[in-house]
Amino acid sequence: MAQILSGTAVAAKVLERIADETKRGGIAPTLAVIIVGGDPASRVYVDNKKKDCARVGFHSLEYALPADVGQTKLLALIETLNSDPRVHGILCQMPLPRDIDERAVTRAISPAKDVDAFHPENVGRILLGDPVFLPCTPAGVMELLAEAGISLEGRHVVVVGRSSIVGKPMAMLALGANATVTICHSKTADLAGITRQADVLVAAVGRANFITADMVREGAVVIDVGINRLENGKLRGDVDYEAVAEKASWITPVPGGVGPMTRAMLLQNTLAAAAASI
Ligand code: GUN
Repeated sequence: MAQILSGTAVAAKVLERIADETKRGGIAPTLAVIIVGGDPASRVYVDNKKKDCARVGFHSLEYALPADVGQTKLLALIETLNSDPRVHGILCQMPLPRDIDERAVTRAISPAKDVDAFHPENVGRILLGDPVFLPCTPAGVMELLAEAGISLEGRHVVVVGRSSIVGKPMAMLALGANATVTICHSKTADLAGITRQADVLVAAVGRANFITADMVREGAVVIDVGINRLENGKLRGDVDYEAVAEKASWITPVPGGVGPMTRAMLLQNTLAAAAASI
């Protein structure tokens, strides 16, 4: 039976550390959060980010724009925030309405305030092993593993999912920690044959219960990045938790696993952005 890797517990420690550093630093890091339109999931994420900021003594500024605001006005707001010295971090909640080019928005945020680490300059620096900001979800996974004393050196990390937000940067961070890394995706042949080779399996697919027990080697570490809302309203990860927990050595729950770590890493990046601005 697997031991549980609790993101809730580790994130609480990280937040305590950030709150202490903020107190000692003397300035309140300020995060500007932009939300466009009324997507209910985005609303929840943004509210949580504002709550997290308050909990560690940061300021947050919310810019709630109507769905029909248009790209020009959104880019103008970002430009204003880029040049405002009181703002240390800028985050534009995705997804955006169809008439707005998410890549143009990502490029518009100053790399020095890009606490999501989505800007091409920051993505490039992650690839080069010289990051300014770490991508929040992969960084949260790395912190969780480190806290449990799980080293990636020489281990086979299999990442299922190749998104720009999770799969690709997760592979880069694992590689940077001297893991041997395989990235799998929807076109991978014999997916189960590859996932069964994983010492550490990272599921970032976005489909509930996608990783079944037959895809997991006895004793593997299983990290579930998925957050899927079921028809009954409950949250479920990408991993068939109960069955996989029988085989894994460690497993992250959903909720309470990677999610709280992602939120903690956003605060860590915002603190770093504020510190670098002095
Ligand atoms: N939408 C879903 N996840 C994220 C995230 O990490 N950052 C932003 N900006 N939008 C998101």
